[in-house]
Amino acid sequence: MKKQDIVNLSWDEFDEMRDPRPDANGFDAVVERAISRRGFLGGVLAFGSAAAVMGSGVLSSTTSAKAQVSAFAFEPIGIATDHDIHVPKGYAWKTLVRWGDPLFKEAEGAYSPETGVSVDMSDKVFGENTDGMETFVDGDKTILAINSEYVNPKINLPAASEGMPQNADEVRLLKNMQGVTVLEIADSGDGYEVVLDSPYNRRITHETQMTMDGPAAGSDLVKTNADPEGVSPKGTMNNCGSGKTLWGTYLTCEENFNGYFGATAEREASEGEKRYGIGGEGRYAYEKFEERFDLAKEPNEPNRHGWVTEINPLDPSSTPVKHTALGRFKHENAEMVQAADGRIVVYMGDDERGEFIYKYVSDKSWAEGQPTDGLLSNGTLYVAKFNDDMTGEWLPLTPESTGMELADILVFSRMAGSKVGATTMDRPEWVAANPLRVEVYCALTNNKNRGVKANAGGDEQPVGGPNPRETNNYGQIVRWRPANEDHGADGFTWDLYVMAGNPTVYDNVYAGSENVNEGNMFNSPDGMAFSSDGMLWIQTDGDDSNEGEFAGQGNNQMLVGNPETGEIARFLTAPNGAEVTGLSWSPDGKVAFVGIQHPGGNWPDGNGKPRSAVIAVWREDGQAIG
Ligand code: FEO
Ligand code: CA
Ligand code: CA
Repeated sequence: MKKQDIVNLSWDEFDEMRDPRPDANGFDAVVERAISRRGFLGGVLAFGSAAAVMGSGVLSSTTSAKAQVSAFAFEPIGIATDHDIHVPKGYAWKTLVRWGDPLFKEAEGAYSPETGVSVDMSDKVFGENTDGMETFVDGDKTILAINSEYVNPKINLPAASEGMPQNADEVRLLKNMQGVTVLEIADSGDGYEVVLDSPYNRRITHETQMTMDGPAAGSDLVKTNADPEGVSPKGTMNNCGSGKTLWGTYLTCEENFNGYFGATAEREASEGEKRYGIGGEGRYAYEKFEERFDLAKEPNEPNRHGWVTEINPLDPSSTPVKHTALGRFKHENAEMVQAADGRIVVYMGDDERGEFIYKYVSDKSWAEGQPTDGLLSNGTLYVAKFNDDMTGEWLPLTPESTGMELADILVFSRMAGSKVGATTMDRPEWVAANPLRVEVYCALTNNKNRGVKANAGGDEQPVGGPNPRETNNYGQIVRWRPANEDHGADGFTWDLYVMAGNPTVYDNVYAGSENVNEGNMFNSPDGMAFSSDGMLWIQTDGDDSNEGEFAGQGNNQMLVGNPETGEIARFLTAPNGAEVTGLSWSPDGKVAFVGIQHPGGNWPDGNGKPRSAVIAVWREDGQAIG
């Protein structure tokens, strides 16, 4: 494959190009068994009412979504296929901050429509490919922490580089365009605006000094030549989704970290490396210019990435901390809640075909005002097992349950999950907890390998349970309710909140669940967050070709779902080419900040390069959104 083509691959395709999954197939039999089974799948496929969508009524009783009067105070919008943003009547939007916009006065004018941003200014501007985002308040100040997930080398580098850096300076430019941006914003009356030179403004990049805590910190697995103690890693990478601690700090989640490492000499990949897609050439050729990224020189460097990293956005001099107790995998986001007894619980998805859903539970309980030391470094990591009878259990990943040492369990959490028989999922993206009841949702974005191939560890991906469709190109949202209404409980019941699909193309299971119709259909749910009124906001990262099995679904979008009725309505459409990812609100809840990642064309400027951006959306009459 030519370099140009590699640059254009998704992270999944890049991984599977480097490490092709075996074509099973003992799966045909599994598929047949699942389809002929009259039990669970019979119930889901019936979908005669929203109650059936919710499973067989094991959870709350609900009424047909179609019979409901819309609970939303806006008129849902149609699909779009253009290069613009659309919001409902009575709403307004504006661009809050774009890739290359200055955080400091010295970087004003740093972005050029022809050449992008120079390497000298690259850590003084807003990063590229905005993703997870959270709002913080310090007195009367409003601060956003925002991830920049990855970088488009073809947009950032000179054309002659053909999308691959040709020298160390070009590597530095790409490194600085990713990571995290902390910035202060101020209410300007029409959305918000960035406060230049605010003391909160800060860039955290692939170079920023971090620390590590938890049981894997200081272990042999994370020691390198540059850090023989194994406690001082540099950089946070591929920052995808986010989370907010109950004590007001930011959690940034390292997802496709594996692609940043490569080997300059032939070497055999270990089992652990293979499970995480580490080996071969790196995606951005970092290894050619810096030993830290060269597996032949620093084989443990990748073990220092793939963690949940905590940042205090209110203290610009604070050192970010990688929490090894929360496990190492392709972290999507981190949703923190509390168990009934006050212990800290963090739900997390591992976004790869056939990987798992995890939760972390702290040893100690916590209440507001108490010290937070140890809450994210002393605890137990669990992995989810979903049963076909719509029950499930959290399986602890301990030396006893896995036969592995604790540091190995945390660095190679996927392998630990496989050992205890966790359920292979359809790419777990964001997890969101309902603020009004003890209930958690996870977007399973899609999985073309469901029922077709094993995952990277050789675990089968049978059709069934919360992953009920072979070659699942549409995705679904699973939700669970912990036993005894306690996030600390080992057991739960589950159902599917929605199965995305296309009722204009299919009249079978690929049409989607009852709460999907021609007017609200979408594919590939990904970002999710609850507003304080208990509504579930769903952002998509799917196929926006508007053709074939995606005909009539248009550009990627943001919808809102009512957890009680199952009703789902389209609120926003993105420019063609973009995904919608990252959602947070102003302190008064009246302005939504929405991330628009990798737009096509030359959105939003209408000239020059496409620029990922955070937009502000508000109701023109000043009322709350939704
Ligand atoms: Fe970065 Fe799984 O999305
Ligand atoms: Ca995502
Ligand atoms: Ca995605």
